Order: sequence, then structure tokens, then C-alpha cells
Amino acid sequence: MKLQLTIFNSKMEVFKTIKSLQQKLSLKGEKITLGLVPTMGALHHGHLSIVKRAKKENDIVVVSIFVNPTQFDKKEDLTNYPRTIEDDLEALQALGCDYVFTPTIDEIYEGDTRSEKFSFQGLDEVMEGLHRQDHFDGVATIVKKLFLITGADKAYFGEKDYQQLLIIKKMVVIESIPITIVPVEIYREKNGLAMSSRNTRLNDDQRHAAPEIYQTLLKSKKLFENSNLARVKSFVKNEFIQNKELELEYFEVADAESLIPATEIIPKKKYRGFIAVYAGEVRLIDNIALN
Ligand code: PAJ
Repeated sequence: MKLQLTIFNSKMEVFKTIKSLQQKLSLKGEKITLGLVPTMGALHHGHLSIVKRAKKENDIVVVSIFVNPTQFDKKEDLTNYPRTIEDDLEALQALGCDYVFTPTIDEIYEGDTRSEKFSFQGLDEVMEGLHRQDHFDGVATIVKKLFLITGADKAYFGEKDYQQLLIIKKMVVIESIPITIVPVEIYREKNGLAMSSRNTRLNDDQRHAAPEIYQTLLKSKKLFENSNLARVKSFVKNEFIQNKELELEYFEVADAESLIPATEIIPKKKYRGFIAVYAGEVRLIDNIALN
């Protein structure tokens, strides 16, 4: 009982430098497992569901909060990215997170804020990769640095960013980094809308309309089971033509492993539906397993 109380009260520690974090981590024994949850902060219940999962599966959990400049293709998106560090730390402390890593840009990039160039064997050439220039090189650059800095045993990523998850899985194979990548399912609001820090930027009408994105994905899954690819695609397109608040950027049915867009459905293969929609200026993405 006394031990439990001590653990519960244990104070979360925040590290700003690589050296101080590594010093702390070097004190942990060999048998202590370390879970890493990379984030850009502005934490919501989606992020917190990942931290809870990591807490269950590891002795120590590190959450990184770093708004990574190299993954933003538009400067204004980087400048306008929500920063809520006090609230973030409070939420993490309440969950029993052990360590938080909040480095500066200089600490990470040492004055050379550029991405490493990776070859993801086509995974970055579709969907988000087509619409966000160099985005995934930036993501892989920071995530690789975080893996090497922490030496974590497991790292957790949301299926909300399914393409990012596959790219990180590919990156650790290419780079031979000994870490297990754990996917975490999409956390949704009661109305089905996938949680995102961007949801706070929706006005009332857009908020009201946005659950339609997931409802359409659910219907596309039903259609996928009973119909053909062309019908699924035209159905989704039509749903959004009729919608005043939401503008479809893309809907794609792709192989769940290679992300190659499907031109025909091959039995036994796994497919996912991927969608990006604009609600005014706010870009929302979601995805669903179709079979
Ligand atoms: P960020 O957008 O802060 O997301 C951090 C993690 O939370 C990612 O793995 C993302 O997929 C996951 N996530 C976000 N919303 C979620 C939801 N509704 N349900 C489940 N998981 C969700 O993704 C990034 O940061 C960055 O690209 C990062 C990997 C940290 C690299 O900079």
C-alpha cells in the first residue's frame, strides 16, 4: 500500500535538454522498459489515450512535446500551431506520465533546421505525401532523432495518422533501429469525429457538419462489403458535393500495407479508406479499415 502511494505521488519530471534526459534514463536498470509517445503538444483525449496505453505496457513513459519545424510545409501553420504547455503538463501529470521531453528547436537541430531525406519505397508518394510537400521526411527526421535520443523499447503512434504510422514502421526497418512501433486506434468524439487539435478551430456550423466525415466512412465500409470500388468512390464524392460546410480534398481506397491506391479489389488483401476534407480553412483527415 505504501509503495503504491509513493508511485501515485511520484512527480513527473520535465527535461529540456538531451543531456539531462539521457542522464536520467541512464539510471534506469536494464530490465526497466521505456515507452515513448512523440507529440507536438496541444494534447487532447486522443493523445492521452496513447499515453494511457503506453503507461499500461511499460515501466517508464516519456512523452515528447516538440512542434517540429521541418514537417510544416507552410510557415504560417508552424507559427499558428497551438501551444498549451501548462495544460499539457497538468494532463500528463494526472495520468502518471514519468518524464516529459520539451526541447527547443536549437537543442534538436543545432542550427541546421533541415530534414534528412529518406526513401519510403512509395509510402510517401500518395495521399498526405502528395498534398504536403516533404512532410514525411520532416516527420521521420524528428522521430528518428527521438528514438536515438531516448533508446525507447516501444514507441506509440495513433492510427489517426495511418500513413505516418506506416512510414515510421518503414523508417525503423531501413535504419535498423531496435524499437517496437505500437499502433493505437483512433480516439473519437461521441459523434464520431476523430479527435484533433484542429477541431478547436471549427466554427459552430463546421463543428455540426464535421461528424459527417466519419459517418461517410462508415457508409463506405458497408458499401465496400456489398458493392464495388467505383461505387464506393462515387458515393463518397457525392456525399460531399451536397455538403455546404465540408469540401472533399481526396478519398482513396488503398492497400492497408503498401498504401498503393486500389484499382481493383483482390480477395484476402486488407484495404483502408482514407479521407481529407476542408471545413473552411481547417483540414481534417480520417481513415477506416474497410475489410
Ligand atoms: P501530433 O499531431 O501531436 O500527434 C501525436 C500522436 O497522437 C500521433 O501518433 C497521432 O497519430 C496521435 N493522435 C492524434 N490524434 C489522435 C486520435 N484522435 N486518436 C489516436 N491517436 C491520435 O503526429 C504528430 O504529432 C507528429 O507528426 C509527430 C509524430 C509527433 C512528429 O513530430
